[in-house]
Amino acid sequence: MKISFAEPALPAKGAVVVLVAEGKKLSAAATDLDKQTKGAVKRAIAASKFTGKKGQSLEIMAPAGGGLDRVLLAGTGKEFGELEQQALGGNVVGKLRNTGSAEVTIIVDAGTKDLTAAAANVALGARLAGYRFDKYLTKQQENDNGKPTLKAIKIGVKGAAAAKKAHGPMDKIADGVVFARDLVSEPGNVIYPESLAAQCKELTKLGVKVEILDEKKMAKLGMNALLGVGLGSERESCIVVMSWNGAAKSKKPIAFVGKGVTFDTGGISLKPGPGMEEMKWDMGGSGTVIGLMKALAGRKAKANVVGLVGLVENMPDGKAQRPGDIVKSMSGQTIEILNTDAEGRLVLADVLWYCQDRFKPEFIVDLATLTGAIIVGLGHEYAGMFANDDKLADRLFAAGTDTGEKVWRMPLHENYDKLIKSPAADMQNIGGKGAGSITAAQFLQRFVNKTPWAHLDIAGMAWSKESRPTVPKGATGFGVRLLDRFVADNYEK
Ligand code: BES
Ligand code: MN
Ligand code: ZN
Repeated sequence: MKISFAEPALPAKGAVVVLVAEGKKLSAAATDLDKQTKGAVKRAIAASKFTGKKGQSLEIMAPAGGGLDRVLLAGTGKEFGELEQQALGGNVVGKLRNTGSAEVTIIVDAGTKDLTAAAANVALGARLAGYRFDKYLTKQQENDNGKPTLKAIKIGVKGAAAAKKAHGPMDKIADGVVFARDLVSEPGNVIYPESLAAQCKELTKLGVKVEILDEKKMAKLGMNALLGVGLGSERESCIVVMSWNGAAKSKKPIAFVGKGVTFDTGGISLKPGPGMEEMKWDMGGSGTVIGLMKALAGRKAKANVVGLVGLVENMPDGKAQRPGDIVKSMSGQTIEILNTDAEGRLVLADVLWYCQDRFKPEFIVDLATLTGAIIVGLGHEYAGMFANDDKLADRLFAAGTDTGEKVWRMPLHENYDKLIKSPAADMQNIGGKGAGSITAAQFLQRFVNKTPWAHLDIAGMAWSKESRPTVPKGATGFGVRLLDRFVADNYEK
């Protein structure tokens, strides 16, 4: 999708979208359009329930008075904010991407005083909504209605140059979201530890330093918790360390860690067959961390950031680890493996320990599609957040509210920690029947030492079966926008 900005003017052809603010008189563009179409806009409003409420739209086909394919009236509500502006851009793309129009002009001249920011946000929403992962569709398209027709979006706004400038960093964030979505969408035969590491290497073009720890190095470091998960796979496990240095050398880095299980069969504790294909997105946490690094480097964030991903494939095999096995992690703590399907925490145990040990970061935020239980608790609306630090949790919560990638704090407590005591080792890798997401988080907490830390369980958020205005169904890229904002608001000053 090509996106451009220009001074507001009604186009001669294609589709045009004008904004209507609820309870206000028609904007300049809507009034002009009404004149040009011989009153079609006012007639259509009078004949419908359209009042300009947010999310509302009204389509007028082939109006008289010129060569326009269609006119779309889009409601802003009484006043629209950044998320609603993005949703409006997304809704427009949703409505028009496959209608026959190749180009749409959206005129942003209503709904808020800050039209510059509104225009930039509309463009961001349009781009995020236009995302499709269709590279393997060689015959029909998703809706059997042929390839999408919409190719270009023009945003008409007063002071187009300023809007384009405001959109610049947003477009870099979208690059990160799209990269994350692409990686998460790829199947397990294409994305496995080594090929995902190769994708990380691509970030060197943006100035990110990329270092790979292979199995030999990890064995030397004593990372047997992570290595144990990969024993049943023909693919070599690895850790990728990505560094972006956008601030003074003396400044401590901030750290993000991602679970990158490129396919999770459950291992010897094999998952049931139906739905197992979903476990191709069990590297969603690492997809977000990689996408975040791309966004931060792309917009040249003024922060020192390290992103670490633990990449492993969890397969059943003659060499696979067994329930009952005991492994010694890099931290020195031993773990009894009671269920080989609770593998994400084993991967993260060594990556978290390595991260705090080597980088002494200001804090660590990890992301993982860690537990089915978090979906039972929170569904697909909020990611679960666990933290040993209130300030960190509050900042993440705020960034979530602002970006619409919401997180809800869940408890940690020593009484939950007791549930992973093992008679045979320092801990076991599962708790009892209840509180599955919490016992998983308690497990992780044992590997962060004293570092301020937050864990985001994104099992309910990495993949979506339904489309939302700026998030088409499939891989969501959840967390890239959230963490980019969290960095921008708190660590770039
Ligand atoms: N990757 C899964 C969690 C998951 C489930 C992610 C559904 C997305 C959707 C994780 O490795 C897992 O298998 N967790 C187990 C833990 C259990 C064995 C304690 C689970 O949630 O069932
Ligand atoms: Mn599992
Ligand atoms: Zn998993």
